[in-house]
Amino acid sequence: MPQHSLDHKVAFVTGASSGLGLHFAKTLARAGARVALAARRKDRLHAAAREIGEAGGHAMSVALDVIDPESIDAAVARVADTMGPIDILVNNSGVATAKPALETTPEDWDGVLDTNLRGAFLVARAVARHLVDRGHPGSIINIASVTAFRTAGQLSAYAASKAGLAHLTSVLALEWARYGIRVNAIAPGYIETDINRSFFASPAGEAVIRRIPQRRLGKPEDLDGALMLLASDAGRYMTGTTITVDGGHVVSPL
Ligand SMILES: NC(=O)c1ccc[n+]([C@@H]2O[C@H](COP(=O)([O-])OP(=O)(O)OC[C@H]3O[C@@H](n4cnc5c(N)ncnc54)[C@H](OP(=O)(O)O)[C@@H]3O)[C@@H](O)[C@H]2O)c1
Repeated sequence: MPQHSLDHKVAFVTGASSGLGLHFAKTLARAGARVALAARRKDRLHAAAREIGEAGGHAMSVALDVIDPESIDAAVARVADTMGPIDILVNNSGVATAKPALETTPEDWDGVLDTNLRGAFLVARAVARHLVDRGHPGSIINIASVTAFRTAGQLSAYAASKAGLAHLTSVLALEWARYGIRVNAIAPGYIETDINRSFFASPAGEAVIRRIPQRRLGKPEDLDGALMLLASDAGRYMTGTTITVDGGHVVSPL
């Protein structure tokens, strides 16, 4: 079997109802994995799972709110009952609020941190418990951001959550290596999706693009190489690392 094959693997993708998570789910399905798409918007998940099935893949949808530990445990149990042991977790659910730090309320802060950091931890823990109970190896891929390493205005809560997630990745890798569980992260730069397309077409957005060394935004498919490396056996000796995929944005000059 080629190193990058995901045949017979089960992948659980959170935040798969839109954007990057939906793209990751389709990429993993095309590589042969059976994919469980999880998020809160069930109608979108159903439609995406059906689309993957019509394209020849195997997919199911499962409701999940990463704020709620019971919802996480129920989703992991349902995926395992339906598809078998989970091999790959793409821990992708996330929210961002853009607000000056001086105006950021405790509710704003908690909303972002509870989803992006606490939620990611609880999902990783639930999948790791599932794997340890079965003596089954696995690969956890956390979706961080270049804001884990560099600053950006109005993103104090978001950047702190992603810096926390990048460090959490290393700590979990250390604890779970003994169980055959690899934990890595991808830190995407600015990736063009439906949500930000109009901003990047504006003069302010074009100014941002000029600061990216490759002078372009990323496309979701630019993340596929890192995703496949970490998901497959090709990355078998990698754990605790965060791979930046950003057209060189974090190495742009001060
Ligand atoms: N796009 C970029 O340029 C970029 C760059 C760096 C990092 N990222 C990261 O990539 C990830 C995906 O972002 P995106 O750009 O694809 O944004 P998006 O389209 O808004 O997707 C976010 C996903 O997270 C899910 N989600 C939010 N809150 C949730 C909750 N409480 N429980 C379960 N799922 C929840 C949403 O699904 P529901 O609303 O249906 O629950 C949605 O599927 C995020 O972690 C983001 O921080 C994005």
